[in-house]
Amino acid sequence: MTTTTTTAPSASARTNPAPWSPESWRRLDAEQQPSYDDPVEVERAFEQLRKLPPLVTSWEIENLKSQLAEASRGQRFLLQGGDCAEVFSECESSIIANKLKILLQASLVLVHGGKRRVIRVGRFAGQYAKPRSSDTETRDDVTLPSYRGDLVNAIEFTEAARRPDPERLIRGYERSALTLNFIRSLVDGGFADLHHPEYWDLEFVHHSPRAQEYQGMVENIGESLRFMETLAGRQVGEINRVDFYSSHEGLHLLYEEAQTRKVPHRPGYYNLSAHMPWIGMRTADPGGAHVEFFRGIENPLGVKVGPGMTEEWLTDLVDRLNPDDEPGRLTLIHRFGAGKIADHLPQLIDAVQRAGKNVVWCCDPMHGNTVKTSSGLKTRRFNDIMSEVEQAFEIHAEAGSYLGGVHIELTGDDVTECTGGARGLDDESLSEAYRTFVDPRLNYEQALELSMLVAKRLAKANADATSEGPVVA
Ligand code: PEP
Ligand code: CO
Repeated sequence: MTTTTTTAPSASARTNPAPWSPESWRRLDAEQQPSYDDPVEVERAFEQLRKLPPLVTSWEIENLKSQLAEASRGQRFLLQGGDCAEVFSECESSIIANKLKILLQASLVLVHGGKRRVIRVGRFAGQYAKPRSSDTETRDDVTLPSYRGDLVNAIEFTEAARRPDPERLIRGYERSALTLNFIRSLVDGGFADLHHPEYWDLEFVHHSPRAQEYQGMVENIGESLRFMETLAGRQVGEINRVDFYSSHEGLHLLYEEAQTRKVPHRPGYYNLSAHMPWIGMRTADPGGAHVEFFRGIENPLGVKVGPGMTEEWLTDLVDRLNPDDEPGRLTLIHRFGAGKIADHLPQLIDAVQRAGKNVVWCCDPMHGNTVKTSSGLKTRRFNDIMSEVEQAFEIHAEAGSYLGGVHIELTGDDVTECTGGARGLDDESLSEAYRTFVDPRLNYEQALELSMLVAKRLAKANADATSEGPVVA
């Protein structure tokens, strides 16, 4: 890749940073970038991407930011979910529609039980780049570049497949566009209309132990809608349609830079490859290239926060990424694991509160709870996931802050990747439908059950609060 390596900025550079531009990150050492063997090919792909139309618009991005500002005040709840890694071969209508259905169902549970407006952000339409712990992978005597996601190379363990191929940047952009196009058409066509939750039925739902509870909510919401519409004498606008926003880990900086532009009639630069990119902890060095790139764009940003994060590191990131303390700009996605959250989260909340900064706190109960079964499969125990979410609610309530969202890896398909849940999946049953390419995802039932837990906790928070905002979808 075409970056040069320099040292991180000094303390004085931190308080008075060098001018930002979409390419200013290139002065710094960028972690987790592929090494391409042909700079001419890279340049060609980059130039092509720069000219292709944007995937999202600045006004959608600003809408999302203002909704996130409400989440930071406890008035909305962020539901961010989707695959760990999207793959090109799964850009298929049923897979996309099923993901949308489960996100819609989960959000309906939150609206109904939690009485909170929900912001739906998919880990989709661009979640194609993955951070890796090592640049290479060795099997027997063969060492090849690690698989870095379909945006970079292919997963098969052959030299040809693992070669980082810049053409894939264009293929990833195209598939993101196809996915978004399908999602937008479904939403515009009425698929996400709260009057018609029957559109979101998934075939296998009827066998689910949770099906009845969910059906009860659907009927209840239908009745409330009809009641409100009778009162208003018309259809209630905002709930006819719900919005979806897109997000992905902003890992591959050339890809992100190529879609970062000025737009007419608004100041600043927008990254138009997704509404809400996030920075993983592996690339969250305050002096590193990723933080440099993301500090300069207008989008709302997520930052993953895990066990190694110190108070100084976090407040430094908050200062750099949101120097004007703009509400809705920054979502801190904590992912500690059920056994660690209580030891780490309280100090970090305290540090952000002492700094007087406005953030959305979001719990990712997936990535700190990954374990291996005795047969070597990566899994997550549903009880650990539930426990981390419950603890997160408790810790935030105790600290006087809001848990403003959850970030989960899920699929609308009937997979067996995480153990536990209503059907009591065990280690042996995992192999029945273990399909993930990277991390284990919640299946439909587990995602619904988790939403029911979150809804209960939100309802409890409502009961504890003195005042409530209006309740619509
Ligand atoms: C992810 O979100 O898929 C991921 C890799 O998370 P983390 O960086 O928090 O481990
Ligand atoms: Co993951």
